[in-house]
Amino acid sequence: MNTSYKVGDLIYDGLIYDGMNTDLADLEFYRRWMPKNRDARILELCCGTGRLTIPIAKDGYDISGVDHTASMLAEAKAKASKEGCAIDFIEADIRTLDLPEKFDLIFIPFNSIHHLYKNEDLFKAFKVVKKHLKNGGLFLLDCFNPNIQFIADGEKEQKEIAQYTTRDGREILIKERMRYENKTQINRIEWHYYINGEFDSIQNLDMRLFFPQELDAYLKWNDFTIIHKFGGFDEEAFNDSSEKQVFVCV
Ligand SMILES: C[S@@+](CC[C@H](N)C(=O)[O-])C[C@H]1O[C@@H](n2cnc3c(N)ncnc32)[C@H](O)[C@@H]1O
Repeated sequence: MNTSYKVGDLIYDGLIYDGMNTDLADLEFYRRWMPKNRDARILELCCGTGRLTIPIAKDGYDISGVDHTASMLAEAKAKASKEGCAIDFIEADIRTLDLPEKFDLIFIPFNSIHHLYKNEDLFKAFKVVKKHLKNGGLFLLDCFNPNIQFIADGEKEQKEIAQYTTRDGREILIKERMRYENKTQINRIEWHYYINGEFDSIQNLDMRLFFPQELDAYLKWNDFTIIHKFGGFDEEAFNDSSEKQVFVCV
């Protein structure tokens, strides 16, 4: 078994990423939970291309973004500068981050914790959050609710999951195939990229799945209190058919 888990470079090509991720339902959720006080300090962990960071900064918040992928941050910085937003984008690993200040609200959005492949990775990131959160500050995160039927279907056949044109004019087609590792809880997803009508490459998108009861327990063990657990960004109750686990913690 190949135990080197990763996300392929093309997936983190800023323009290919942004072209695919245009749905902003999560932005409205995160906006609703921002403190009323615009002087509050906000920290986004795994900020990527600034898809959420930049609109929140434009709402008037003092927000910093952390990510360890240079290509994603390059796109974030280019967009922020075009929009006239002064955002501190920091290239760092969220498992070892050490900043000299604390924040009123910290969030890890858009399934990013699925790239923390081992429990120790997740626990390190939770400790970093604790260390950087002010007393009474909020910690928000979202991830998928594992769906065994969806994975079983994804193992049977390759499916076309996206077709779009990037801002620099590349026609992208992505087909997906997955293989779930029962031992590690890692879904070995492959995205097969076709660019301008020609096969380009297979890119890995390995995702560690977190089952609902275990994630609740991990948050509690790491001294977070779960105030709300929603099943989606409209704050619907978490239930049997929820696609997402969306947490508000202190
Ligand atoms: C799904 S993207 C989310 C990007 C952005 N928050 C958004 O909402 O579009 C996941 C991001 O997490 C970052 N990431 C994954 N593991 C990380 C780690 N250990 N430290 C810092 N960033 C990490 C990746 O580089 C990538 O930009």
